[in-house]
Amino acid sequence: MNILIIGGAGYIGSHVTSEFLDNGNKCTVFDNLSSGLRENLFPEAKFIHGDIHDYQALLEAMKSNGGHDAIIHLAAFKAAGESMLIPQKYSRNNIAGTINILNAACETGIKNIVFSSSAAVYGEPQYLPIDEKHPTQPENFYGFTKLEIERFLDWYDKLKNIRYASLRYFNAAGYDVKGKIKGLEQNPANLIPIIMETACGIRKEMQIFGDDYDTPDGTCIRDYIHVSDLSSGHAMALDYITKKDKSIIVNLGSETGSSVKEVLDIARKETGKPIPCNITSRRPGDPAKLTASASLAFELLGWKAKHSDMETLIKTSWNVYSKI
Ligand code: UFG
Repeated sequence: MNILIIGGAGYIGSHVTSEFLDNGNKCTVFDNLSSGLRENLFPEAKFIHGDIHDYQALLEAMKSNGGHDAIIHLAAFKAAGESMLIPQKYSRNNIAGTINILNAACETGIKNIVFSSSAAVYGEPQYLPIDEKHPTQPENFYGFTKLEIERFLDWYDKLKNIRYASLRYFNAAGYDVKGKIKGLEQNPANLIPIIMETACGIRKEMQIFGDDYDTPDGTCIRDYIHVSDLSSGHAMALDYITKKDKSIIVNLGSETGSSVKEVLDIARKETGKPIPCNITSRRPGDPAKLTASASLAFELLGWKAKHSDMETLIKTSWNVYSKI
């Protein structure tokens, strides 16, 4: 297939591009490089330096390379904390930018889209593991933007026959199991890259945000999912919506939970570094525990996490961070 990957130079986007290329597809990456990196681009994929606010550029990109069969849309801001301080930035990019993409898809006749959604659409868990029937009450504006886009997708499905797969990622982590992708996220806010930056000396120490949660060791539990697993989920989801002509919303998670202290212990063991840390107060808005049910992804797509054990998540990350 001929696939347009919007946000394909980013951390997750580059892994997804690699997956589609490895599966024999023709890929075009469209990215404004605001957080994406040139070093994440592949010579086999055509690159267009463009912004999703530029409607003409989107139209041209969609028509280029002989036209595209599908769009993978990963271009979004994703810092939940920042979204509460600067919602305008998130409305404009995540919502208005996606409306441009959908309208350009209508105009160019592209009928399939895979969208990067997030477990942030659920908000505070009412039960665990979280399945797709769990109520959606985002606790932060970032999660709200993802949920709004799902609503747009649903309407465009009904009105314009655009089929979509909305993939609700849990905590994306790790690096390419094949070792091709090496671009480091700039100013990361997530736990594993922060641990890695501390292990390799970019940071002197790190903070554990609270050890008084109602969990066995007092620190928060999350469901970490390897980016290579996320990538195969995109390929399987696209296959599903094109073959079945049906839209889907599915969780992508490992169905296992690791606490902050467990992640840190494994990182110390795998890296051999002390990784100094302090316990500080809780970060506002952090639920004690989040784990996914990914049984729908298995049932519909045959997808299951294969690389998301904590040793692999840490080893593949350290493989990249230890070389800087
Ligand atoms: N944490 C620390 N210290 C840090 C960074 C994080 O203790 O320096 C803790 C957090 O308090 C939390 C856990 O590590 O308990 C994971 O935090 P992250 O910031 O890595 O991830 P979140 O669970 O907050 O959120 C991530 C994504 C969201 C997504 C969500 C889905 O950033 O976009 O997973 O589960 F919605």
